[in-house]
Amino acid sequence: MSTALGKPVRTQVAIVGSGPAGLLLGQLLHKAGIDAIIVEQRSREYVLERIRAGVLEQGTVETLERLGVAKRLHAEGLVHDGVQLSFGEGRQRIDLKGLTGRNVVVYGQTEVTRDLMDAREAGGATTVYEAEDVSVADFDSNQPRVRYHKDGAAHDIQCDFIAGCDGFHGVCRQSIPASSMQTYERVYPFGWLGVLSDTKPVSEELIYVWHERGFALCSMRSPTRSRYYIQCSLAERVEEWPDQRFWEELRRRLDPQAKRDLVTGPSIEKSIAPLRSFVAEPMRFGRLLLAGDAAHIVPPTGAKGLNLAASDVHYLSEALIAYYRGASEELNAYSSRALSRIWKAERFSWWMTMLLHRLPDDGPFGQKIQQAEIAYLCGSRAAQTAMAENYVGLPY
Ligand code: FAD
Ligand code: DHB
Repeated sequence: MSTALGKPVRTQVAIVGSGPAGLLLGQLLHKAGIDAIIVEQRSREYVLERIRAGVLEQGTVETLERLGVAKRLHAEGLVHDGVQLSFGEGRQRIDLKGLTGRNVVVYGQTEVTRDLMDAREAGGATTVYEAEDVSVADFDSNQPRVRYHKDGAAHDIQCDFIAGCDGFHGVCRQSIPASSMQTYERVYPFGWLGVLSDTKPVSEELIYVWHERGFALCSMRSPTRSRYYIQCSLAERVEEWPDQRFWEELRRRLDPQAKRDLVTGPSIEKSIAPLRSFVAEPMRFGRLLLAGDAAHIVPPTGAKGLNLAASDVHYLSEALIAYYRGASEELNAYSSRALSRIWKAERFSWWMTMLLHRLPDDGPFGQKIQQAEIAYLCGSRAAQTAMAENYVGLPY
């Protein structure tokens, strides 16, 4: 049986993936009058239901503002001027605003995604959801293509550029010859077990917890919805963690005040995520440009993943806009510009991960070093400033 051929379609930029990177890039290009089609393998509902990041840097918020999609973010997002570090009996506040003049906003990735999808639909731009067998071709020529199947027909998009915004497991990075790419990776020997619950958050600010039983994080999505994480072993499965066991283990790791204030309730989502650092260099191969998780992964400690996707597409949109105005040099600089910021965020996420997690092979010496570093952080304004500068996001 032969497959029907859909009408060939032409666009300026074909974007693979409708996560934060793809959707943000789509809007940035749309605003500049550049035509872009997004091809996404999942359904709209599936993309919207993925519970992921929750902390936005000011740079990300400013990009959303410039795009005119920050109305709900300003109405519902929670502005945080500080974060808390907890260790055994004590707690230290890091005064983000006082130390850097900047803050972060707690607003879920699902909400950012929804706002961007709504804006895209209102602007009449095309997104193909549930595209099957997506592949990218001819990006070493001037006429790259994105191909996919949908509703029994084969489709072919011809374009000037392909933006690979299809996440860590996507097809774009994997289509680049291995000999043209260098990768750097660290896989951590633990995961995060996350729970979402409709309970009042334990604290008005996020609490990052060092504990000898392992790391924990108290976060939130709204004044009535909490997001908690505990470090777990990679061998564990979600089914082994009924709600009661989760709350008991979380409570054990909290300081006395937080133990008292913790409100528990039924989980509405529970999942385990592995932790990984990964960077692929360069982020450009011919006319295929990678952005976001397609090019790099950070462990979630420090909440940099979504924010890096936003800074990547900021640089990428500037480069593409310059290209269509006749200046092609900026495209040559895209990869090195983006990577300079990415490596700093990689370093910070690695540092926070190594500082706060129980490292199975590090033994008592490793724990003592962590405790000394936390004590130094508590006593040094310079150390707190270094942490705060990175947490609120380095400048673009
Ligand atoms: P993604 O969000 O992964 O989007 C990629 C899109 O491409 C997806 O919609 C996918 O369906 C689509 N796609 C994939 N393959 C194809 C294909 N072949 N064809 C077409 N489309 C394709 N960050 C934090 O800061 N804090 C967190 O708590 C946190 N938790 C996380 C939990 C999990 C389970 C994961 C996976 C990530 C988490 N992150 C977190 C990281 C953060 O969510 C990501 O950095 C962010 O989503 C990156 O956006 P992106 O658009 O680059 O990639
Ligand atoms: C959240 C996730 C993080 O990785 C983090 O550092 C802070 C908050 C969250 O999901 O709310």
